[in-house]
Amino acid sequence: MLLTKQLKIINRVSARAFSAKEVPQFTKDRYPVKRGNYNALNDHDISHFESILEKHRVLTGSDTDMYNIDWIKSVRGASNVVLKPKTTEEVSEIVKYCHAQKLAVVPQGGNTGLVGGSVPVFDEVVISMSLMNKIEHIDEYSGIVRCQSGVVLEKLESAVNEKGLIVPLDLGSKGTCHIGGNVSTNAGGLRLIRYGNLHGSVLGVEAVLANGKILNLMSNFKKDNTGYHLKHLFIGSEGSLGIVTKLALHCPTAPNAVNLAFVGLESFQQVLNAFLLAKKELGEILSSVEMIDEPSLMASTTMCNLQSPIQKYPFYMIFETSGSNDEHDKEKLNNFLKNAMEKSIIVDGVATNEPSKMRNIWESRERIAESLLKMGYCFKYDISLPLSNFYDIVGAVRERVGSHAKLVSGYGHVGDSNMHLNIVCEKFSQEIYKLVEPFVFEYTSKLKGSISAEHGIGFHKPKYLHYSKSPEAIELMKQIKNLMDPENILNPYKVLPLS
Ligand code: FAD
Ligand code: MLT
Ligand code: ZN
Repeated sequence: MLLTKQLKIINRVSARAFSAKEVPQFTKDRYPVKRGNYNALNDHDISHFESILEKHRVLTGSDTDMYNIDWIKSVRGASNVVLKPKTTEEVSEIVKYCHAQKLAVVPQGGNTGLVGGSVPVFDEVVISMSLMNKIEHIDEYSGIVRCQSGVVLEKLESAVNEKGLIVPLDLGSKGTCHIGGNVSTNAGGLRLIRYGNLHGSVLGVEAVLANGKILNLMSNFKKDNTGYHLKHLFIGSEGSLGIVTKLALHCPTAPNAVNLAFVGLESFQQVLNAFLLAKKELGEILSSVEMIDEPSLMASTTMCNLQSPIQKYPFYMIFETSGSNDEHDKEKLNNFLKNAMEKSIIVDGVATNEPSKMRNIWESRERIAESLLKMGYCFKYDISLPLSNFYDIVGAVRERVGSHAKLVSGYGHVGDSNMHLNIVCEKFSQEIYKLVEPFVFEYTSKLKGSISAEHGIGFHKPKYLHYSKSPEAIELMKQIKNLMDPENILNPYKVLPLS
């Protein structure tokens, strides 16, 4: 049996995130945002939606609650309706109507987004893609998969595994997020170092435009240089340019052999040394390079009741290899670990290819986000930084927030220069908010980093976009938005700055 099949991971992003007593303040009360000039929903609109969909696919009242709150409980909208289409034609009918009636809409996938982009800000109509979950075709020869956008990532992974393939991305939210949400955010994750980002793997999309027109950009080929590559407009635009209804994805062949090492290190400089050595010695089989600092591991082990495979160190790293020959890969990994120990780069570590042990190691990494959330309110930052300064920001923020924070931690996809900086406090307060923003973005910008490595801009970051993009680039983005959505009905208040 393929290792990837055995590695099937439990649904980590559970309903628990919504079950805590506290619900966030309404977005409109917490943040200075003014409702756009849209019409308010009325009974006639609801009847019209019920004529497009069946009645039970038009949710109202308290049934809409969970669609109004994001996973990290940072924002809360007040939408009165959630629509659940099953086909592209239904999405098209809904959007055509909203366009004509000047009703704003927000497309929603698995609602695991971390930048407040997936829920309404005011009373936007929520279009949930959860019933658009058909996998249409898997071509085991080319590795090309065609599916609707609401397929849950883990379900897609299981289906392609049956044909000897893997999905070229893997996230801790895989049990809940949709492949369409992944495309719309250009999600990165744990294996981007090996398989690249979705601009490379997504071969085509079908999208419903702001006026309800269906744009078919599907392609069955890796090579297709026919004019402008319009599909890229929908990869990472977070529902602001169209609603992705279908996609074609290139899935690589599943590796025969997967091996994992979890190691302890004394300093961040040694993290960099280990990364360099791993690239040299593991070369083409390296499929993941993650970094975890001690506070992050402490959070996931204590809050999620997990066991660290080694004793306490200031830093930990995970190295994964994926290849075709287990003996060869194991030997390479063991040699790398031996050399790294001899050079005193790593001080302790374990290596395994046992599925249950690998699963435990991945859990300790992937459940950090969930564990931090269990500790209190979490200010989350997802930045790209030069590796030479990668970890400095954690100390700088720790010093700045002092005793306001319960914990400041850093972890992430160090192999892709992507830092996840988290500040956990008892609860949200404007005082801490002002201490960390715009400080984090100014700090990142001074180092010529990116203020959003993989989570997107959403509701939380449009006003900071200028720290990573020039005025000319932002102006062109606004022109593209205006061309494709002149009434600004698609996911308003998100991605682009208002003024
Ligand atoms: P949602 O959260 O529902 O939506 C995200 C955005 O996309 C919104 O702006 C929404 O309007 C838009 N959207 C959704 N579906 C569509 C559609 N069909 N058409 C148009 N627009 C749409 N992200 C990473 O990049 N890497 C990680 O490693 C990672 N790990 C995570 C781990 C955990 C535990 C959690 C909770 C989140 C993690 N995320 C990660 C963030 C999140 O899972 C990703 O951004 C994911 O791609 C969102 O998918 P979703 O289906 O939940 O989308
Ligand atoms: C991760 O890599 O775990 C995610 O991007 C979520 C997070 O930032 O916590
Ligand atoms: Zn991440």
